[in-house]
Amino acid sequence: MRLVVRLLIALAVLVASTTSCAPAPGPDRSQPDGWDDALRLPRAVDRDPDPRTIEIELVARPAEIAIVPSGPTSMWTYDGMLPGPLIEASVGDRLIVHFRNELPEETTIHWHGVRVPNDMDGAPGHSQPPVPAGGTFDYDFVLPDEGLYWYHPHVRSAAQVGAGLYGAILVRAPDEPEIDEAVLVLSDASVRDEDGSLLPPDAGGDLATLFGREGNHVLVNGRVRPSILARNGRPLRLRIVNAAISRYFQIAVARHNFTVIGGDRGLSPSPRAVGRLLVLPGQRVDALLVPTGRDGETLTMRWVPYDRGYGSTEFRGEVELVAIELVGSAPAEPDAIPALPERSVEPLSTAGATRFEIDLTQETIDGRLVMGFDGAPSWDMTPIAARIGDTHVFTFRNTIEWSHPMHLHGYFFQAIDATGRVVPEWLDTIDVPVDGEASFVVHYDERPGMWMLHCHILDHADAGMMGMIDVAGPDGGGGHAH
Ligand code: C2O
Ligand code: CU
Repeated sequence: MRLVVRLLIALAVLVASTTSCAPAPGPDRSQPDGWDDALRLPRAVDRDPDPRTIEIELVARPAEIAIVPSGPTSMWTYDGMLPGPLIEASVGDRLIVHFRNELPEETTIHWHGVRVPNDMDGAPGHSQPPVPAGGTFDYDFVLPDEGLYWYHPHVRSAAQVGAGLYGAILVRAPDEPEIDEAVLVLSDASVRDEDGSLLPPDAGGDLATLFGREGNHVLVNGRVRPSILARNGRPLRLRIVNAAISRYFQIAVARHNFTVIGGDRGLSPSPRAVGRLLVLPGQRVDALLVPTGRDGETLTMRWVPYDRGYGSTEFRGEVELVAIELVGSAPAEPDAIPALPERSVEPLSTAGATRFEIDLTQETIDGRLVMGFDGAPSWDMTPIAARIGDTHVFTFRNTIEWSHPMHLHGYFFQAIDATGRVVPEWLDTIDVPVDGEASFVVHYDERPGMWMLHCHILDHADAGMMGMIDVAGPDGGGGHAH
């Protein structure tokens, strides 16, 4: 009986979601039929009839995934898929996730980039206790900002994300432009070619941790080199998230430029043309590409080695990411890029800011690699104190031979360039290059609590390169829930 009821509900939800979605003023689907079949992400099933509430179930569990021909790879997944299902919503929607942990160890879910209340942030031991094996947790929060976000665990992050636990969240603005789009979740996996088995997360020891592990198979939406069809000369919107634990994605298409139209927090106030896209681990990039060529020609989107320190470019070749098969002959004039809705961002003021200069460091203690801030690993670090209303300026100086993509939980920040100018664009991840530094300004405007600040090379974060910011509430009391 219960099963029948559940099936009926599932069916009703399915019908509701297909009927409510058809006439939505979404992007114009003018690409050839089935153009994105090879890489379209399955969507999470919303079981709540209220259009402004997305209520889903999400299960973390082992599953067999096909990556190499020699055999399936035993991975850890959300809902048995790699990546996990795409959660699609509109700005202001409430998201309820009934999460169940069917992994053999504890985990949490962190909603990367989403401005969640602190107790929904998935930081184990700080914002919530970890969800034990067999346990459940309900995440429930509002999605306040447009853009592409993602979800991943924050327990043994390098091992768990590297085993396949990641998925994307797309939050649509009410004025989305009418452009064909593809959500691309980029990652990689360390898989033995002989039998498809996953390499252990500590393969290669401390040296591999120091470099940051890059999997030998690069994946786009969980697949190796999928192909799409694209109409010659028609703009395509690529909404990209880098979910790899260490790999930087530098992306190129021969003879083509990209127009970067957005980043970590949706559309940007100042679109710009670039020859190559750079997507740091954890970061999002929203870009337009107008694929143009001969009828039937295949363009290849490639991963191009990016210099993030020794070993990142030496003796390494390019990797094919996506094949783009052109349909139709090239138009005399490629389609104009449709007008984009305008966005404006005020530069954050640094007036009255407290300044922090932090060295990113590495040493060997008792024969073990330890990374950290100013010589202290996360487990020995005192949280940085702040209050709602405070402004902090951070400068991270790199003392290590490899770059670090630093990520802050809970708040967007703005970069300060080498001339001291605040760049009016919202970021949650910033690169600290080899032999260089990076500065940003953050204003703690709301949502007190303990927030993480760490390198998104997850091997580095796990080795200690992570601090905490303890933002006290307006009453001056400790903001964090325990
Ligand atoms: Cu994707 Cu702590 O972050
Ligand atoms: Cu790092």
